[in-house]
Amino acid sequence: MKIVKIGIVGCGRVFEHYKKIFKKRKVNDFKIIVVCDLKLNTAKKASKYFKCDFTLDYSHMLNEYKDKIDLIIILSPSGLHFKHSKLALQNDCHVLCEKPVTMIPSDVKILKSLSKRKKLMFGIVFQNRFNKSIQTLKRFFDKGKFGKLSIINVRLLWSRYQKYYNDEWHGTWENDGGVTNQQAIHHIDVARWIFGPIQEVNSIMSNQINNLQAEDTNNAILKFKNGAVGSIQATTSVRPADLTASLEVIGEKGFMVIGGIALNRIEKFYFKRLSKYEKKLLKSSNEIVENGYGNSHTIILDYAIKNILKKNNKFPISLNDGYDTSILVHALYKSDEKRKWIKLSNNIKSNRLGVLGVK
Ligand SMILES: NC(=O)c1ccc[n+]([C@@H]2O[C@H](COP(=O)([O-])OP(=O)(O)OC[C@H]3O[C@@H](n4cnc5c(N)ncnc54)[C@H](O)[C@@H]3O)[C@@H](O)[C@H]2O)c1
Repeated sequence: MKIVKIGIVGCGRVFEHYKKIFKKRKVNDFKIIVVCDLKLNTAKKASKYFKCDFTLDYSHMLNEYKDKIDLIIILSPSGLHFKHSKLALQNDCHVLCEKPVTMIPSDVKILKSLSKRKKLMFGIVFQNRFNKSIQTLKRFFDKGKFGKLSIINVRLLWSRYQKYYNDEWHGTWENDGGVTNQQAIHHIDVARWIFGPIQEVNSIMSNQINNLQAEDTNNAILKFKNGAVGSIQATTSVRPADLTASLEVIGEKGFMVIGGIALNRIEKFYFKRLSKYEKKLLKSSNEIVENGYGNSHTIILDYAIKNILKKNNKFPISLNDGYDTSILVHALYKSDEKRKWIKLSNNIKSNRLGVLGVK
């Protein structure tokens, strides 16, 4: 195999970002074979752009093209990720799926056993993990530069107007969730991945400004196993525009504040001792980004293409990661439902997130 042949499902907002990466040839060794979207004009426009086929029916796309494509990229609404991923695996295609991988944790397990049995790659797009600033944060933490950790804060104060929630799926319990599962999930995933495991959470969710089924605001406290206490302050109710999205990490020997519109800058730091290499690393960790997606989708796509070409089914962000972050997200929702502290375990499941017919 010399190139990876790709099918894409969902040609909406985030597709526009992928389109630029493919078009600017920031990644190589691929060919877009077919795109799929429910909306005729959207599908047509996308196929014209890539000079590829289009279809309005995902099942048809798999039936017709399964022998002609290696990788399906899933950019459909979150509530369809499980169904679309499962169908892709059943048709022997590797999968790259946007976050959140599924709406409920038990579905991640189904995808895990299917991809294992079929020996297929399954990658999840939590692109911020590959930001230079986040990689530096992880390296510093792994090397013990913070000493004993005391505080880890996620602050996401963003602006989404009512129009954003007035489409078919944003803010609904069945297909999205609120600020926690849609926007802050990136930051929550990074905090869990680097500093976890997390033992207990306590969360209060509310709708401050926007009218949606799920929450536009979440205030939560997290207890990490390593003794640190964390907090999440997340909202889409800021007006008139996004205010900040940051991760603050405070330890006995140093601190780091990561911000920027896409967790792309180390805004502040202090460490008791720094080697020449570490100083250089800190200086080179800021990236210029065009928008909130940041730059790291390119790294993700490059990994996916190269791994498939090398017949390597491992992906750096696996279904195990997707599962652990899904459990954490469900624990946050559950805590709000029960109005109490929730200990993280495999049995955690919100009564609302991913559930059909909840108002
Ligand atoms: N990683 C990131 O930074 C990031 C950013 C934004 C969105 N996302 C994720 O990407 C996904 C898509 O988000 P978006 O903002 O592009 O949404 P969107 O609503 O703009 O686009 C979704 C597209 O899927 C199409 N669609 C719906 N049902 C379909 C079906 N059954 N078959 C084929 N096409 C169908 C819609 O017509 C629409 O064009 C979501 O899961 C979201 O969480 C990730």
